[in-house]
Amino acid sequence: MHIESATSSQLVEWEKELSVHYERICQHELSLDITRGKPSAEQLHLSDKLDGILATDYRAADGTDTRNYGGMTGLSCARALGADLLQVPTEEVMAGGNSSLTLMYHAVLTGYLFGFAGNVPWRALESPKFLCPVPGYDRHFTICEQLGIGMLAIPLGKGGPDMECVEKHVREDGDIIGIWCVPKYANPTGITYNRETVERLAQLGQIANPGFRIFWDNAYAVHDLGPSINLASIRAATLENDTVDSVLQFASTSKVTHAGSGIAFVSASSANLDSLKLQMQAMTIGPDKVNQLRHSRFFTECTTLEEHMHKHASILKPKFECVLEHLQNALGDSGMGQWEKPRGGYFVSFNTRPGCAKAVVGLAADAGVKLTPAGATFPYGNDPEDSNIRIAPSFPPLEELDTAMSVFVLCVQLASVRQRLAQCRNASG
Ligand SMILES: Cc1ncc(COP(=O)(O)O)c(C=O)c1O
Repeated sequence: MHIESATSSQLVEWEKELSVHYERICQHELSLDITRGKPSAEQLHLSDKLDGILATDYRAADGTDTRNYGGMTGLSCARALGADLLQVPTEEVMAGGNSSLTLMYHAVLTGYLFGFAGNVPWRALESPKFLCPVPGYDRHFTICEQLGIGMLAIPLGKGGPDMECVEKHVREDGDIIGIWCVPKYANPTGITYNRETVERLAQLGQIANPGFRIFWDNAYAVHDLGPSINLASIRAATLENDTVDSVLQFASTSKVTHAGSGIAFVSASSANLDSLKLQMQAMTIGPDKVNQLRHSRFFTECTTLEEHMHKHASILKPKFECVLEHLQNALGDSGMGQWEKPRGGYFVSFNTRPGCAKAVVGLAADAGVKLTPAGATFPYGNDPEDSNIRIAPSFPPLEELDTAMSVFVLCVQLASVRQRLAQCRNASG
């Protein structure tokens, strides 16, 4: 039944039934977690041949002894892997440590403390701000919040951020110094930016503060669940618009090999890379080249990137199907929520009826199912509609995910019916 067409007495009955079901589940003392998009143990096993692959042969093809210090930009074979992931020339890639988030943090610090490519440091501005397409990735927002950089939420549609809104802010406010973008299989909505959006983003450099940078976090560049969606090249678009300095691209092997010990990449113009290196070389004498060599050998001797990602997809696909089946079976045509079917990435984004997300997360927690806190996908943890919940299906085994999802949909039903009942009671005075 559609929730809006239920009468008050039907809602009362419905609430009773759901509550009985819910109380029964609470007695099971579950302890399930669908909060973070971590690869499962089964996925991590796919890359276990990394261990021991060097067999004491530490020399890279270019002769570098990877055990020693040096090489700020990373091994050339590792940079080539990053170039493959980001579809850019190897010379424009720097290969770092295990986390692209760390590179993003350093890039924000570089802009904030020193400025990119000779531009004024952001800290010299009155109120430096990032544009934040929402819902988005909470850890991007945490970086800004920690450094006191302001954040403006921008609606994220099916083809990318609302570009009218982005252009208006950038044109009218010279203190806009960045935008967070997850252009392919976005975290959490799963959308991929369309060509028009990519082209309009590439033009921002013509109207923005010269220190403005697009943080192009392509974390899910090769993480397809089926046939790949083609993301237009931001690099090509910036070359056409003479705005190459306006973009910094990021990727990593975190969800390709071992999440805790992969390689992260940043790709940018030489002026931007020089600024980054200047900041980073005060902090390190070079990245873990041994691990970089391991990865390079893994993708030449054991598998190809494409073949490897197919194996990930075959593990992940049934989990996404499980989530979507639960949502469709329990909530399809109920008016209790909306969701998209992602074609890649790590998340399913669910929107409850406005005002219900916190209640759903609370009910699920009391029933032993941990969800990402409501609001986490918005700057400052503030979802003005209290509606968005990010579901991360990758980590738990399928049976646990199945149980967690039956609890989730029950909590959505219960919170929605209780809210609707309260609305009907208020309306009837
Ligand atoms: C959009 C996005 N960027 C970055 C990361 C983290 O990447 P890394 O492990 O390379 O730091 C994640 C992890 O969930 C993510 O979803």
